[in-house]
Amino acid sequence: MTMGEMKLTTDDFTEKNEPFALFDEWLKDATKTEPNDPNAVALATVDGDGLPDVRMVLLKDFDEQGFVFYTNFESQKGQEILGSMKAAMCFHWKTLRRQVRIRGPVEIVSDAEADAYYATRPRGSRIGAWASKQSRPLESRFALEKAVAEYTARYAIGNIPRPAHWSGFRIRPTSIEFWHDRPFRLHDRVVFSRETPESDWDSKTRLYP
Ligand SMILES: Cc1cc2nc3c(=O)[nH]c(=O)nc-3n(C[C@H](O)[C@H](O)[C@H](O)COP(=O)(O)O)c2cc1C
Repeated sequence: MTMGEMKLTTDDFTEKNEPFALFDEWLKDATKTEPNDPNAVALATVDGDGLPDVRMVLLKDFDEQGFVFYTNFESQKGQEILGSMKAAMCFHWKTLRRQVRIRGPVEIVSDAEADAYYATRPRGSRIGAWASKQSRPLESRFALEKAVAEYTARYAIGNIPRPAHWSGFRIRPTSIEFWHDRPFRLHDRVVFSRETPESDWDSKTRLYP
C-alpha cells in the first residue's frame, strides 16, 4: 500500500478542541505508515542534579488518564522518575512529518493494571524482566544468558509472577503539543495545556513555528 492509498487524518488539526482524540487519530495514522514501532517514543527524565536524560520506550496504553509505558523501576529512568515524579515524551513520526510532545507529573500504574499487561507479554519477555538488571553494568553476555537460564528453570512450569521492580508509569499530561510540517518551515503548532491533570484543558494556543 502506498501512502496515497491510505486514509489518513486530513482535516485541519488546529481546529480540534480536545487533544486525546487527536492523539488517537495521529497514532492510528502512524500505525498505517511507520515501517515499525509507531508507538516508539522518546522519554525524557531528569536526574537529581537536574541533568536531563532521554531514551526510547514503547507506549503501551493511553486514555484520558494519561500515557503509559513499562520498565524496570531500578533502571536509570526508573530511579530518575521515582526521584522527580515528572517526565516528558516526544513522538516523531517521520513518515507523517508530525511530532507530539507530552509533559506532566507521573504516577505508577496500579498492580492490577501492571499484572494485566505483564500477562500479555511473551514468556521470554516475562523471563527477561527477571533476568535483566536494567541499566546496571553487565560483566559479559554470558552472565545475562546464565540469568535467563536460571529464571527459565525457576519458572519452568506455571505462572511467571511479575517482578516487584517491573511496572508501568503513566504521564498525566498538563500539556500536549501537536506539530505538523508545513512548507517553508511555517509549521503548524498547537499546544493544549491545563493547570493540573485533574483540571479541564484551559487553553489551546497556536505557537510560532
Ligand atoms: C524502539 C525502542 C523501544 C524501547 N522500549 C522500551 C520500553 O518500553 N521499556 C524499557 O524499559 N526500555 C525500552 N527500550 C530500551 C530503552 O531505550 C533503554 O535502553 C533502557 O530502558 C535503559 O534506559 P535507562 O538506562 O535510561 O533506564 C526501548 C528501546 C528502543 C530503541
